[in-house]
Amino acid sequence: MVAVHGGGRALASSPLTNNNPWSGSRELFRVTDRTRPSPEAPSLRTDRLILRQPRPGDELSLTAIRNLPRVLAALNKTELTVDAMRASLEEVPAKAESAVEYSAVIEIAATGAVIGMVRLESVHPTGTASLTVWIGHDQRERGCGMEACREMVRWGFEELQLETLFADVIGTNGAARSLVRRLGFEQVSTEQRGAQQVTTFHLRRQAWAATMSLGR
Ligand SMILES: CC(C)(COP(=O)(O)OP(=O)(O)OC[C@H]1O[C@@H](n2cnc3c(N)ncnc32)[C@H](O)[C@@H]1OP(=O)(O)O)[C@@H](O)C(=O)NCCC(=O)NCCS
Repeated sequence: MVAVHGGGRALASSPLTNNNPWSGSRELFRVTDRTRPSPEAPSLRTDRLILRQPRPGDELSLTAIRNLPRVLAALNKTELTVDAMRASLEEVPAKAESAVEYSAVIEIAATGAVIGMVRLESVHPTGTASLTVWIGHDQRERGCGMEACREMVRWGFEELQLETLFADVIGTNGAARSLVRRLGFEQVSTEQRGAQQVTTFHLRRQAWAATMSLGR
């Protein structure tokens, strides 16, 4: 899912600190118009999963998953080398520090196996962000995508105080459509972007809160 959207409430400035666990971290990204401190990067637990910050060594399993043809098609991206994945994981803490993107590695709690990533990206100071997720083949259709996204969506609304989450689904991608609909997202538009048909879904805080109060 790839999206840049506007609207919502203002977030704001806080001193930037570098708690990057990776050695040789890069220049921090800077956002100057936040109105509240950015929260800690997500480190979350669900029944079966741990959503945690990347660690050195994750790049091997994550590159293999991220380069699966189905994931590349869903993200409309090209393959990454292990080095490029490592570099991208190294940037995760700085992006969270500057409140532009929050990523979490998805791990099976019982085994420690890394099975994918979930991300809130294009986080906008006005309170919007875009949800992206990818899961490895051997763990698909077991409810892990839903479990990880449900928790990341909760975190986004509760901790980031987001107003609206977006999700872009490229092409037919029945799995992504089912996933976002089950999370309560509603379709807002379909447009042609180059060779791709992109369907945009959104979930507003109020609608999410209503589903929470119904215990869904
Ligand atoms: C989309 C994706 C994350 C779903 O992960 P998952 O762990 O297999 O999903 P879950 O098992 O939690 O299922 C979530 C919903 O999707 C449905 N679903 C899962 N795979 C499906 C498929 N291949 N076809 C149709 N529906 C599917 C499930 O039935 C479920 O809906 P339901 O509760 O109404 O039955 C995974 O297929 C994936 O990584 N795809 C490639 C990347 C991608 O498309 N990311 C999302 C867009 S960026």
